[in-house]
Amino acid sequence: PQPGPMGIDPLRSVAKEMKFLTGNIQQLLGSGHPILDTISKYYTQSEGKYVRPMLVLLMSQATVSSPKRQRNTFNPDRHAIDSPISPARVLSDTNPSSPLTSSFSNANEGIDDGILPSQRRLAEITELIHTASLLHDDVIDHSVSRRSAPSANIAFGNKMAVLAGDFLLGRASVALARLRDPEVTELLATVIANLVEGEFMQLKNTALDEKYPVWKEETVSYYLEKTYLKSASLISKSCRAAALLGRSTPEVVEAAYSYGKNLGLAFQLVDDMLDYTISGVELGKPAGADLELGLATAPLLFAWRENEELGVLVGRKFAKAGDVQKARDLVLRSDGIEQTRALAQDYVDKAIRAISAFPDSQAKTGLTEMCTKVMTRRK
Ligand code: FPP
Ligand code: MG
Ligand code: MG
Repeated sequence: PQPGPMGIDPLRSVAKEMKFLTGNIQQLLGSGHPILDTISKYYTQSEGKYVRPMLVLLMSQATVSSPKRQRNTFNPDRHAIDSPISPARVLSDTNPSSPLTSSFSNANEGIDDGILPSQRRLAEITELIHTASLLHDDVIDHSVSRRSAPSANIAFGNKMAVLAGDFLLGRASVALARLRDPEVTELLATVIANLVEGEFMQLKNTALDEKYPVWKEETVSYYLEKTYLKSASLISKSCRAAALLGRSTPEVVEAAYSYGKNLGLAFQLVDDMLDYTISGVELGKPAGADLELGLATAPLLFAWRENEELGVLVGRKFAKAGDVQKARDLVLRSDGIEQTRALAQDYVDKAIRAISAFPDSQAKTGLTEMCTKVMTRRK
């Protein structure tokens, strides 16, 4: 297989699955309204990194031969998972559970790689939820680009972008319901709430909402809690859900969750670091955006601990002329970037330890390589 967009290829074992992902996601997103159809598929056209689905697929495979338990949940039948959700042309999709006749079969249905249809669908659901959050995020952040193209809010306007995000959540919910697994449904529904909670904590930072905030431990714990909700919740709970769908034992389910939580925290720490260190062209989205948005992320929080001067700028959210440049210079001259990288590395090490008891497999190697990839990525 070709190396992925992030350079190396840790996904030998799921490469075939990944090839079908975009198509399968687009199948879930068809709308009879041509404009809604276009906008909701917009971010699927420029392929993202697919970090979340890749993790779900790797976790599904890595736990295939782990000890199993009998779960007394209703076993989803193939029909419930695979029957078409989106009507080809009609607008009135009145009864989504009644099978629509236009046949839709997963093109990758025949691949025998140990991944269950429900786990494959879960991978698609994670990308739908993630993409929905990006549609909303780009409106909130007044972003102009995403995945090296104009962001949806720029291409179609705020109203359409918000509605398209809502549509993605709706379709993700239908697909989730069709898994017929209440525990998995609850996990992913909680993720949606967590995403909003994380975004809210970021918008209304009660740890920093004073005129002259001083650095305290709580500043960092608030940031990490927010980071869990905004980024690690989806990754951790979908890893957990993958193990649950595979009927893994509670120990394996916990290990999958711990891997996802630690990797997810590292992922966002690196994201916040790249906002300082990489150009917008390379990122495919605006760089240096966090300070412009008034946000104090890990590199700045670490710089602030060494240099109380930054508190004044934090207090006014870098709003005065020259603040953004000043804060940026102070961060780059501090070891805030290095400390952020070191903290991310600690989390990645924990993620690797979490799955150390998994039997050796190509997928386990893939999960380990994902950790390296998160640390070395430049976009
Ligand atoms: C990207 O962060 C955004 C998120 C990880 C989550 C945003 C969540 C919401 C907007 C709440 C609504 C949620 C749903 C499910 C509709 P970023 O802005 O730091 O990163 P970026 O540089 O990629 O824009
Ligand atoms: Mg953003
Ligand atoms: Mg944002």
